[in-house]
Amino acid sequence: MDLDELLAVARLAADAGAEAAMRWRRRAEELTIEEKAGPDDLVSQADREAERVIRAVLAAHRPHDGVLGEEDGDAAGRSGIRWVVDPIDGTTNYLYGRPDWAVSVAAARVDGDELLAGVVAEPMLGRVTAARLGGGTWSGGVRLPRLRATDLSRTLIELNLGRGAQKSRAGRMVDALVPRVRDVRRGGSAASALAQLADRRVDAVWVPGLSPWDCAAGVLLVREAGGQVGDLAGPSPGTWPASGDVLAAPEGLWETLRNLLFDAYADVA
Ligand code: IPD
Ligand code: CA
Ligand code: CA
Repeated sequence: MDLDELLAVARLAADAGAEAAMRWRRRAEELTIEEKAGPDDLVSQADREAERVIRAVLAAHRPHDGVLGEEDGDAAGRSGIRWVVDPIDGTTNYLYGRPDWAVSVAAARVDGDELLAGVVAEPMLGRVTAARLGGGTWSGGVRLPRLRATDLSRTLIELNLGRGAQKSRAGRMVDALVPRVRDVRRGGSAASALAQLADRRVDAVWVPGLSPWDCAAGVLLVREAGGQVGDLAGPSPGTWPASGDVLAAPEGLWETLRNLLFDAYADVA
């Protein structure tokens, strides 16, 4: 398997998705916005068109691979590789004209979901962060330095509030963190948050309740930058945590944060 080829295709697909999303952003007043599961779950033509062009790039270069995308679901392949795609992660930000949103494209083995290549593009910031298994994490032509743990008191941590019953634990989670860390942030894009950790725009990330497309690429970016990823049950080597609860941090800080967060969610399934 040619990991460099997978990374090159991931990059082309993410660039195409970013271009489509930016085109719609310039005519945002024409977008029809729909609520999917509820008022906090939005979609527009921009998400759908970005996914369509991403799938077209993948089909042109890797016709035998499967694709799992947020908007168009799962299409099985026969190569043993599956692409995991979020055409716009942070749709709410996108639709409000805020800059924190990303296009996320990852390639993984179907067997065990081992992550092979991943790209997170943040078009409003002009940033693309990319990694392939064993090759480090790169941005702007530069290999990112290995993540180093900060003291807990000097940790800026990016959060989300989770889904379902996790939301009712958000207060406890904030209570556990705020007195002990430098500060918390809630940017609104899990994919961006993980890219931000990889290139040290934040020191740690706790984003529970994700789907694979939200985090697949970002998890590889963090891991290839030397960070640790898992859920509150423990690390998830090689892939994203099946629970969708993603804790990402430099080694040495990860376990401290896990212990701190564990009690806040102790009674949530
Ligand atoms: C959402 C973002 C958000 C996270 C949600 C995701 P979407 O993705 O990643 O940060 O808190 O769980 O659903 O819907 O904007 O693609
Ligand atoms: Ca998403
Ligand atoms: Ca999305």
